[in-house]
Amino acid sequence: MEEQEIYILGVGHNTIVYIDLAESCGYKIAGLYHYNEERTGEYVHGIPIIDSNTNLFQRESLGGMNFIVSVGENAIRTNLSNKIREMGGNIPTVIHPSAIVSKYSKISEGVVIHANSVVQADASIGKDTVLSYNTSLSHTSSVGESCYIAFNATIGAYIKVHDFVLMGQSASLVSGKLEYVGKNAVIGAGAVVINNVEADTIVIGNPAKTLDK
Ligand SMILES: CC(C)(COP(=O)(O)OP(=O)(O)OC[C@H]1O[C@@H](n2cnc3c(N)ncnc32)[C@H](O)[C@@H]1OP(=O)(O)O)[C@@H](O)C(=O)NCCC(=O)NCCS
Repeated sequence: MEEQEIYILGVGHNTIVYIDLAESCGYKIAGLYHYNEERTGEYVHGIPIIDSNTNLFQRESLGGMNFIVSVGENAIRTNLSNKIREMGGNIPTVIHPSAIVSKYSKISEGVVIHANSVVQADASIGKDTVLSYNTSLSHTSSVGESCYIAFNATIGAYIKVHDFVLMGQSASLVSGKLEYVGKNAVIGAGAVVINNVEADTIVIGNPAKTLDK
């Protein structure tokens, strides 16, 4: 099969992780794009920053180009992804070969699943959501669009995680204890969640409680 080219949008501390991921999935990295025009021409781990995001979005079309948006922040990643799609670019679903994703699950476009994660049967993941490494999504649960599920996070069965949720590293949603995590909620690192989480709230601790700011 011919090697497909892909561009990575966003250059930061985890760019190398995305380079590694894309190459592990059989892509050839054609170049990086950065928001800062002054960095054009630099090399990052041997891959050139070929242009700025601004110039990229001034092109007539992105038709025929594949992209990974390597931005952790959910709203920024989603805005960039939507722009790319509006201009005809493609954001493929990228799943590390060591991840175990059930053929009975439903994975939407632009989803990224890093190494060693597990998605069980009857689970679903919405557009532009990232599952970092070592995460697990149990059966009959769903993660909405534009979420970031950090490494070692676990989501039990029969739980609905709404859009734009950040789940911190090693956080856990306990099967049988909760039904949903509301839109835009943040689950603190290491939290053990046993109650529903309302939209726009932050929860921390074990058992997780709302963080009043
Ligand atoms: C929950 C979180 C969002 C809060 O961040 P913040 O709004 O900047 O809050 P602060 O750091 O000011 O902490 C506020 C209070 O919550 C406590 N706290 C913060 N994060 C906590 C956590 N994960 N577990 C328990 N307590 C926590 C702090 O000790 C502090 O308590 P105090 O007021 O008694 O001193 C953040 O700490 C977190 O866990 N983010 C997830 C990070 C992550 O996993 N990213 C993915 C990897 S890329």
